[in-house]
Amino acid sequence: MKPRDYWNSVAETKTFTTPFDAAFFARFVPLDAAILDFGCGYGRTLAELTQSGYRNLCGVDLSDKLIERGKRLFPTLDLRVSPPSTLDFPDASFDAVILFAVLTCVVDDAEQETLVAEARRVLQPGGVLYVNDFLLNDDERNRDRYERYQSATNGRSAFGTFALPDGATLRHHSEERVRTLFQSFETAAFERRVFPTMNGHVSNGFAAVFRKPLI
Ligand SMILES: C[S@@+](CC[C@H](N)C(=O)[O-])C[C@H]1O[C@@H](n2cnc3c(N)ncnc32)[C@H](O)[C@@H]1O
Repeated sequence: MKPRDYWNSVAETKTFTTPFDAAFFARFVPLDAAILDFGCGYGRTLAELTQSGYRNLCGVDLSDKLIERGKRLFPTLDLRVSPPSTLDFPDASFDAVILFAVLTCVVDDAEQETLVAEARRVLQPGGVLYVNDFLLNDDERNRDRYERYQSATNGRSAFGTFALPDGATLRHHSEERVRTLFQSFETAAFERRVFPTMNGHVSNGFAAVFRKPLI
């Protein structure tokens, strides 16, 4: 299933779960910052940012159905449909970009790199990328599904990728993969966390703030 079709098919039913940590974010981003939520889903994180006092907010997502849900739930938010992994904004137009549980849905290395490069392009030098995403787990259920997907793809997929019965293909990352993906940024904060998942389980994860260098 194409990503847009999958996200449209679950747009009314999924609850997204990785938490917005307001105190963590406030250490790096002032209230007047211009903030983009890349892969914003139905806008729940932007709604929380509004409650924390942030005002200059925009969210984009490839799923028109998720954006419709967001506009219904939060009519005052600026939510837009956007093609996958690309951003229709000039270079350096934001002080902060949020990327919550998006990499986990973009399982291909090259597509992840395109997406992160887009996030970097629209950030001001010195701007920050706040990322929540999932890390590899070592329990039997996860190990089994990682191995099953590797054999089904003859080892051509990254270890940690797995398929769900509802049509989703998702990825849990090694820390090494995370370091490689964000190597053009400075790491301002990196914390291992355990997150609830949108499918009712828990998973290892991380919350990180990566800063675009000034030069
Ligand atoms: C698990 S949801 C998280 C949504 C939101 N960030 C949140 O935490 O509430 C993943 C989101 O990523 C979006 N997405 C998936 N692939 C994408 C891509 N290639 N480019 C941009 N967004 C993508 C989906 O449409 C979906 O809204």
